[in-house]
This record gives sequence, structure tokens and C-alpha cells, in this order.
Amino acid sequence: MKRRYWIGINIFVAVIVLYVGLNLLEPGYAVKPPAELSFNHPIEHEMNDVLGYDIWGLSVSEKEAKGEMDPSMLSLHNGAVKIDAAFVEKGRDLFYEKTFNNEVYITDVLGVLDGPLSIMNIGKAVLQARKEGTDNLKVELAEDAIEGGREFKKGEVMETGLDVPKGAFGPLGMPIKFKEGRLKAGVTCAACHATVDRETGKVIEGAPNADFDAGLILALASNSTAYFTNTDVDAEKLKSFISEQEWVKEKERNGYVALPNVQALEDAVDRNLLQWPKGNFDSTMDLHQLVHLKG
Ligand code: HEC
Repeated sequence: MKRRYWIGINIFVAVIVLYVGLNLLEPGYAVKPPAELSFNHPIEHEMNDVLGYDIWGLSVSEKEAKGEMDPSMLSLHNGAVKIDAAFVEKGRDLFYEKTFNNEVYITDVLGVLDGPLSIMNIGKAVLQARKEGTDNLKVELAEDAIEGGREFKKGEVMETGLDVPKGAFGPLGMPIKFKEGRLKAGVTCAACHATVDRETGKVIEGAPNADFDAGLILALASNSTAYFTNTDVDAEKLKSFISEQEWVKEKERNGYVALPNVQALEDAVDRNLLQWPKGNFDSTMDLHQLVHLKG
């Protein structure tokens, strides 16, 4: 009995230590293909004049720089940035791993993992696909849902267009982090600006991910409404979702601002997101919509 008690205490302490440790360390995973899994790693593969200088967006190769160029043109003072191997590697790190903290918006605000595209099912799909790699990760839905008037069934297979290079443990350009007690997914440049070659499972760096279905993924999120500024939901539509009940009017007279009906708004946003063609992404916020709302 006593021994059992001690084992119990130890397990309890171990769990707490693990949990606190995970929260302090905030471990994460991002796919960054090594040279042998990349078709066109800029340093490891022969490429045209990657190294040299960048002068306000103008590329100057090492050869050109050594040749006729006036050395004073190549100074930092003149706006020239030296492009050496370390600098390219740094850029590659950012390209694959840097989310600029957007996991907070994508996971906590949009709820991209709180809808039927669960992290468990994405993980399962990755484990199945990683042997060969895929350019179109197929994920089973974890639950029934109606999004934008369309019925989705538990177990239905979604073509996300996410890519998994051969041997990777997650989708390309979708780093996963453990933070604030849960797993969070973010997005990096590589989700849209790199793709996996179907034949070899290798990454083609800089090629557009033409079948990435960002609209579908956003629509399946639990709070797609957070993205309404980039859809066709304008001030007029928003106003139509504010219910005309007497108590709302009364509150408005007392200086309160009435909010739109949550479900109607979510539904309208999802409807629009589901129309996005694969490989397309509306990144422009139409802020004038909000300005009109005030008037
Ligand atoms: C969710 C998808 C997505 C992500 C993530 C993304 N982009 Fe893009 N990007 C696009 C799309 C789509 C276009 C094309 C827009 C167009 O043609 O109107 C584009 C265009 C560009 C262009 C212009 C290319 C040209 O030919 O003019 C640059 C440069 C660019 N992105 C850089 C980046 C960088 C750097 C990052 C990471 C910090 C990034 N993008 C992340 C989708 C994305």
C-alpha cells in the first residue's frame, strides 16, 4: 500500500514537472528540408549567382562585384547587403520556421484546430503520408459540421493541399508549437511558396503551392468570422445580421452597440471562404467596410 502511494506521488510529480517544463520550454516542430530533400537548396545545389550583394533589390553577383563595380557601391552605407551562405541559411530558416507569432491568431482566434480538422487527424494523415511524401495531404474530419450551408460528415476525407515532404513529421509551412498548455499551429511562407514534388517527395523551394486550399481550412475553423474583413461580408451585410428586436434598439438608445448574430455572420463568412479557388488567398483587408459601418 505504502509503495503504491509513493509511485502515485511520483507519477503525479512527474506529470506536473513535464507539464511545467513543456510550458517553459515551448517546444515546437517545423519542417525544414535538408539539402538531400530539396530540389533547389540555394547553397547546396548549383544555382545562378545566389551569392554576392543586394543593392536596394538589385542583385549583384560575386563575379560582377569583383569585376567592374566601384567598391564604394558595395558598402552598407550605400544600402548594399552582402549575401553570403550564412545570410541565405538565415533566410531559409525564416522562410520555413518563422510564424511571426501568427499561431496566436490562427489557433486561438480563428480556431483552426477547434473545428472538424483536428490536430489528431492532421497528425494521423501526416504519419500515413510521410513515407512517400505528398503534395495534397488528405485529412479525415473528426466530427460532423455544417459550414457555409455545406454539410461535412465525420470521416469524410478533405483534400487540404498541404504538403508533406518525404520523412517529415508535419505539413510544410505549418509549424506546431506547445504553448500556454496546448498545441498551436502557425503558418510560414513555405505553406504557400514551396511545394512537394509528387514523384520524389522532395521540396521545390519557391514554387507556388497551387492546390493549397486555404479557403477550406479557414472555413472549417471554429471562428472563421475573425477573417470577415477579407471576405464579401461588407457593412450592409453586417447590418442585416444585427437583429431588429426591440430590446436591441432600446440598448442602442442607451449607448450600447449591438453585435451581429454570431451564427449568421459565421455562415456568411464560411460561404465566401468556400468559394476561394485552391492556391488562392485573399490577404487584403477591406478596411473601408468598417469605415462605412460608422456612418
Ligand atoms: C497563405 C498563403 C501565403 C503565405 C503564408 C505567404 N504568401 Fe506570399 N503570396 C501568396 C499569394 C497567393 C501570392 C500571389 C498574390 C498575387 O499574385 O496577387 C503571394 C505573393 C508573394 C510575393 C510577390 C511575388 C510576385 O511575383 O510578385 C512575395 C514576394 C511573397 N508573396 C512573399 C512572401 C513571404 C516572404 C512570405 C512569408 C513571410 C509569404 N509570402 C507568405 C500567398 C502566401
